[in-house]
Amino acid sequence: MLDKRMQDAINDQINWELYSGYLYLSMAAQFSEMGMAGGQNWMTVQYQEELSHAQKMFDYVTTRGGRVTLEAIPKPQTEWAGGLDMFKEALAHEEGVTARIFDLASLALEIKDHATHNFLQYFIAEQVEEEESAGDMVQKFTMAGDQPGGLYQLDKELAARVFTPPAPAA
Ligand code: FEO
Repeated sequence: MLDKRMQDAINDQINWELYSGYLYLSMAAQFSEMGMAGGQNWMTVQYQEELSHAQKMFDYVTTRGGRVTLEAIPKPQTEWAGGLDMFKEALAHEEGVTARIFDLASLALEIKDHATHNFLQYFIAEQVEEEESAGDMVQKFTMAGDQPGGLYQLDKELAARVFTPPAPAA
């Protein structure tokens, strides 16, 4: 049975993963408006990833006999100055998510919930990738600057990203 404190903390994180998805979907809308279909694709894949994170946590809570309770999802920002601005925010957002996952892992250790600590290892590894991929795009958008040719090439690269569903929890 999942400890109530752990259950509440994971429920809170489920909300945050859904908010993360909402934020990236909002960025997808802005890329669409900018005529960058690749950027729209990249952010849509990111949105799908966030939903899969929320689902993975949902499944874990219910598997452990806990109760998922859904809360309101905050309204995301809807306008950014451009691609670089969006990816800078994505990177800062992911750094915040990493801190939240670390807090969950610390709580799991504090209450000796080793099953949850083990479950969270997936997310700890995932956050290394999340920060790296957003940081990579900050670098590339910085290099491209305002050059249409550079942005066109970058958009083609962003178009290649595909969503790969995570393996189900063991
Ligand atoms: Fe679910 Fe982007 O962390």
